[in-house]
Amino acid sequence: MARLFLRADLDELAAYRQGGGPQPGDTATFKLSSNENPFDPLPSVQARVAEALAGFNRYPDTGGRALAERIGARYAVRPTQVALGAGSVEIISQLIRATAGAGDEIVFPWRSFEAYPLLTIAAGARPVMVPLTPQFRHDFAAMRGAVTDRTRLIIVCSPNNPTGTSVAARELEKFLSSVPPRIVVVIDEAYLQFNRDPDAAVGREFLGLYPSVSSCIPSPKPTDWPGCGSGTRWRRSLWYRPCGRCRCRSRLPTLPRSPESRPLMRRLSSPNGSRCS
Ligand SMILES: Cc1ncc(COP(=O)(O)O)c(C=O)c1O
Repeated sequence: MARLFLRADLDELAAYRQGGGPQPGDTATFKLSSNENPFDPLPSVQARVAEALAGFNRYPDTGGRALAERIGARYAVRPTQVALGAGSVEIISQLIRATAGAGDEIVFPWRSFEAYPLLTIAAGARPVMVPLTPQFRHDFAAMRGAVTDRTRLIIVCSPNNPTGTSVAARELEKFLSSVPPRIVVVIDEAYLQFNRDPDAAVGREFLGLYPSVSSCIPSPKPTDWPGCGSGTRWRRSLWYRPCGRCRCRSRLPTLPRSPESRPLMRRLSSPNGSRCS
């Protein structure tokens, strides 16, 4: 049989292995490795999912305009600065593919989120993994030193997965002011809601200061619905310009995109909502 033209470099990528969960009948064990909420989805969410099933035979609104407008109003950013995706991994992947191709470099701290090298290599780019300091913090001097004329994107992860260390606003500011302005910097804040460090940087506060900054904020992990919509997840991200060309038109599940997604909309409208809900 003829050998197919498949990319040989992808053979080197370790396949993602999902952690095991509790066996049927085991009510005492919770699987936390994928940040799954051990509690059942809220009844209001379940009701809305059931309601939305009636419209699943239609293509959804790709941009999620109504939700983007609501998020924009809440955080005082233009709706066009808000991108929605099926998980922040998808949005980071869009940013990587929109900025880097074969031979280009993506700089990020290491050890950090395991998806970064996978997404980089899948895009044909080269991961430049900068070791954390002995205190498990980003080594910004080394990250700056790793920037070359092939660098297309830098990822900052705060709080960092898996070390939990967060990036202080003043160190981020210093770093961003040292980075060549054409290089996109993504601030991945997947665990923003768990961060109690008063000095921690808040990505969206840097959006106006540095036009190359993109702050990637998932829906709150504590209230997450990762199984929502054909097993996909959704997140939102604030970024400096659309990377829509790298987005598949129907990736965002119908439900969270819809203006009638009441539990989400309520959180967005609540003055006491969490910092990025
Ligand atoms: C740092 C970091 N970013 C992004 C993600 C993935 O987020 P999502 O489930 O929104 O794709 C994770 C893991 O859940 C993570 O640890």
